[in-house]
Amino acid sequence: MDELLLDVQDLSTHFMTHAGVVKAVNGVSFTLHRNETVGIVGESGSGKTVAALSLLRLVPDPPGKIVEGKILLKGRDLREVSNEEIRAVRGNDIAMIFQDPMTSLNPVFKVGMQIAEAIMLHQDKSRRDAWRIAAELLAKVGIPDAESRVNQYPFEFSGGMRQRAMIAMAISCNPDILIADEPTTALDVTIQAQIIDVVREMQAQYNSGVILITHDLGVVAEIADKVMVMYGGRTVEYGPIDEIFYNPHHPYTWGLLGSLPRLDLVEKERLTPIKGQPPDLLMLPPGCPFSGRCGYERPDECPLTMPDTEIVGPEHGVRCWIPNDERVSARSALPRFVARSK
Ligand SMILES: Nc1ncnc2c1ncn2[C@@H]1O[C@H](COP(=O)(O)OP(=O)(O)OP(=O)(O)O)[C@@H](O)[C@H]1O
Ligand SMILES: [Mg+2]
Repeated sequence: MDELLLDVQDLSTHFMTHAGVVKAVNGVSFTLHRNETVGIVGESGSGKTVAALSLLRLVPDPPGKIVEGKILLKGRDLREVSNEEIRAVRGNDIAMIFQDPMTSLNPVFKVGMQIAEAIMLHQDKSRRDAWRIAAELLAKVGIPDAESRVNQYPFEFSGGMRQRAMIAMAISCNPDILIADEPTTALDVTIQAQIIDVVREMQAQYNSGVILITHDLGVVAEIADKVMVMYGGRTVEYGPIDEIFYNPHHPYTWGLLGSLPRLDLVEKERLTPIKGQPPDLLMLPPGCPFSGRCGYERPDECPLTMPDTEIVGPEHGVRCWIPNDERVSARSALPRFVARSK
């Protein structure tokens, strides 16, 4: 196994708001190794972005606070380091591609200058060298005519090009860990595929670990080695990609898989959205956040306490009160799995 880069243990990040405590991330654990890609999936509001921002200590405080857990970067707990050290980590060890590139590219500065500034901030380079490297990086992430594009402003770039510019900026410091937060949602499918290829190539070149955040299991299938499924701030299931796709144990994971488009089913069976609304994080039950929406729940257990993790396969864990054999038979009755088990 490659070097362990990141070991997140029992991370909880809450927002203290006037309306109450929003438990955006609640006891989340995962590991990331060199050359590995971890997909974090879950619908809107499940805590994916807050979990990622917590790793970099970028959650706005107040109202946000990391209330529990360890964030071990090669053994060093990032919760304990000084502000100066965490800034160095952001520049050198962990880079993040943010969900909305326009929030992280400054509209009034040329793209090349923004990348060059990032380079000069963290590396001992002259302005001239930094501009040259910026142009090389833009070319590397597939921006045509990069030499002249460095002189353009973000609004002169298309959405896909802005994402590429963000990737160029993120990799400018050769980070060990790249966090890509929904890098593809606003883009059309062809560009999405290209962006994923760019991330994959960067990973191969720099041997980095990648955390890919998305609500789309299809994207995860393309690129991830393992998956963490989040719901209502909790990890409800995690495991290697094949386990999650072929041996999913949590009813929420079934829901996510059921809402993937499929070519081998007739039209009306192809897409089954998950019924009900995402949870209100101010009104979460003390137990499983998916109770109330699950359809299989046991009213005496599920809403009351969160079950411990049960290991159901190689490095594959689930948190669910339904007994294992009942889960397996409930799953085999779903349209998606009937075809497979025949
Ligand atoms: N500054 C804040 N103050 C209060 N609550 C917040 C704040 N930032 C985030 N939250 C809450 O934390 C929860 C998790 O948000 P997060 O952005 O992590 O979701 P997400 O899984 O990334 O969703 P999406 O797929 O839409 O990006 C949400 O309920 C959100 O309202
Ligand atoms: Mg998000």
